[in-house]
Amino acid sequence: MTPDGSRVRIRDATTADLSQLLVIEQVCFRTDRLTKRSLARLIRSPSADIFVGCIEDRLVGMCVVLYRKGAKVGRIYSLATLPAARGEGLGGAMLAESERRALRRGLVEIRLEARATDVGVVEFYLRHGYESEGHVAKYYQDGEDALRFRKSLFAPRSPGVEASTAPAEITSR
Ligand SMILES: CC(C)(COP(=O)(O)OP(=O)(O)OC[C@H]1O[C@@H](n2cnc3c(N)ncnc32)[C@H](O)[C@@H]1OP(=O)(O)O)[C@@H](O)C(=O)NCCC(=O)NCCS
Repeated sequence: MTPDGSRVRIRDATTADLSQLLVIEQVCFRTDRLTKRSLARLIRSPSADIFVGCIEDRLVGMCVVLYRKGAKVGRIYSLATLPAARGEGLGGAMLAESERRALRRGLVEIRLEARATDVGVVEFYLRHGYESEGHVAKYYQDGEDALRFRKSLFAPRSPGVEASTAPAEITSR
């Protein structure tokens, strides 16, 4: 347990985590999976955050957030918890951590995509304050559509955010 009594702990990913990150990719995503090489590159990259979620010291979740130079928008590329560890708050904790990290970088908004057919995941993002912006047809490698989401990191949304942030063309899942 952490000092505050929580079973959930979040820390930066390291190269020692690569095998377990690959397991999470394989188990949690049907297509568009990150390879070991791309995960290793993300760990070294200054324009990404990749962190892991542990429950009682078992590494069971991961999150990848991508940033683009000059853009005020961060993009969650990947957020996953192994099925046996779901429903314990880790996904929500990692989502909150990605928002904190984006804020620390001075960003104003987070965007992401989720499978339109994945009702549980779509509801998860809606519950956490993400707004749906609509469908992206055939977004995934298997031809499924995505729903695009955004969340302003400020409430109410700062005027001018739309104009000042051209969409960062980094894809996410
Ligand atoms: C989306 C995802 C990361 C959520 O992870 P999680 O650790 O289960 O997240 P949480 O425990 O914080 O929240 C899950 C919600 O489902 C509910 N839930 C209850 N039992 C659950 C269970 N057995 N499994 C999943 N969710 C459950 C929780 O109560 C919670 O509801 P809340 O938000 O109202 O509190 C996880 O479902 C996942 O990895 N999905 C596959 C990968 C994916 O599609 N990622 C998103 C696109 S990148």
